[in-house]
Amino acid sequence: MDEINFFPDDLEIKDQKIILRLDLNVPIKDKIIKDDTRITLCLPFINRLIKKKAKIIIISHLGRPKGVNVPDLSLIPIYKYLKDALKTNVYFFRGNFDGETKEKFSHLKGGEVILIENIRFFKEETEDSQDFSKKLGELGDIYVNDAFSCSHRKQASVHSITKFVKKSYAGPLLKKEITAINFVIKNKKEPVTCIIGGSKISTKINVITNLLKKVNNIIIVGAMANNFFVHKNFKVGKSLIEKNTKEVITNIYKKAEEHNCKILIPEDCMVGTDFEGTGKNKNLDEIKENEIILDIGFNTIKKIQKKINESNTVLWNGPAGYFENENFSTGTISIAKIISQNTLEKSLISVLGGGDTLSAINKSNIKLTFSHLSTAGGAFLEYLEGKDLPGISVLK
Ligand code: 3PG
Repeated sequence: MDEINFFPDDLEIKDQKIILRLDLNVPIKDKIIKDDTRITLCLPFINRLIKKKAKIIIISHLGRPKGVNVPDLSLIPIYKYLKDALKTNVYFFRGNFDGETKEKFSHLKGGEVILIENIRFFKEETEDSQDFSKKLGELGDIYVNDAFSCSHRKQASVHSITKFVKKSYAGPLLKKEITAINFVIKNKKEPVTCIIGGSKISTKINVITNLLKKVNNIIIVGAMANNFFVHKNFKVGKSLIEKNTKEVITNIYKKAEEHNCKILIPEDCMVGTDFEGTGKNKNLDEIKENEIILDIGFNTIKKIQKKINESNTVLWNGPAGYFENENFSTGTISIAKIISQNTLEKSLISVLGGGDTLSAINKSNIKLTFSHLSTAGGAFLEYLEGKDLPGISVLK
């Protein structure tokens, strides 16, 4: 932790071009930002840079456009948001990166901001292309990564860009995130329970394999759990599943036994016939062909409550169901409430992470308390696993 170059408060940056990598990957539907938490958290630092009269070049991704221009994944709604929120000139850049780009940015005055269109519209970004990283790096004097949540990605604007700027730093949000997570890793008290949900299945299955060596219980919820149901020969109807996970799950159970880690999967669930309707509570052997599992069931909530009450540390990433429809948000909200109550009343150490988990909690409008609420999902889990994150290694 000490080795990371944190952005120094007293650095003279007047008229210096700062490339600021943020994670503005927020939920957007019909051009409307559904949850602005990730943006609002970035504003204090941007305002600090504006006050110090730096020229600020912001880079972010949105979703996974796979190297092509997907209009629904444009950063324009975020540009409009920043224009309203920041008391300075904010520009938008949607061109290519070539020798002339630097020129196009030369109008930028100290204290002004330019937001670059979704960097993942360029396939070179996810390929961590050296040439592309060089073009990005040449736009500025200093690089600041304040996007902990994508620091597990070996991508140009997070990783190789650092080779092509004079100096690279970690921003204050990144510092806050790793300080809090380091504190938990150092001070965690057993029993430790890790709750893993959400739908980014393949990435997390490997994380589970590594985490079970470090925690006492793993609770699987969300679409993730469907693969475990299939493994136990239950029919899951039209629910989201991933192919070829049988072997991985067998291996997870084997490793869990070796490391004395208990794996808990839901025993009942809420099902619906579409994402928009209402749900029915069903046991796992009652799911029909036309049904989709969209939340955990009431018995499962009770089991999870018991496990949380018995734990001294809880780590949670990924919602328990399709919380966007409030008929399927009960599981996620119930887990959040139990963790919050234990954090307040029994000094439970609780760390929650992930864009969707954050959105679900914000959407509930309930006042909840946790030891740390991380903006990061995958990065949070990989950091907990003890992995060296590529975007952080390069800041050392
Ligand atoms: C996230 O939402 O976890 C981050 O923005 C990273 O997104 P990614 O998983 O698409 O890289």
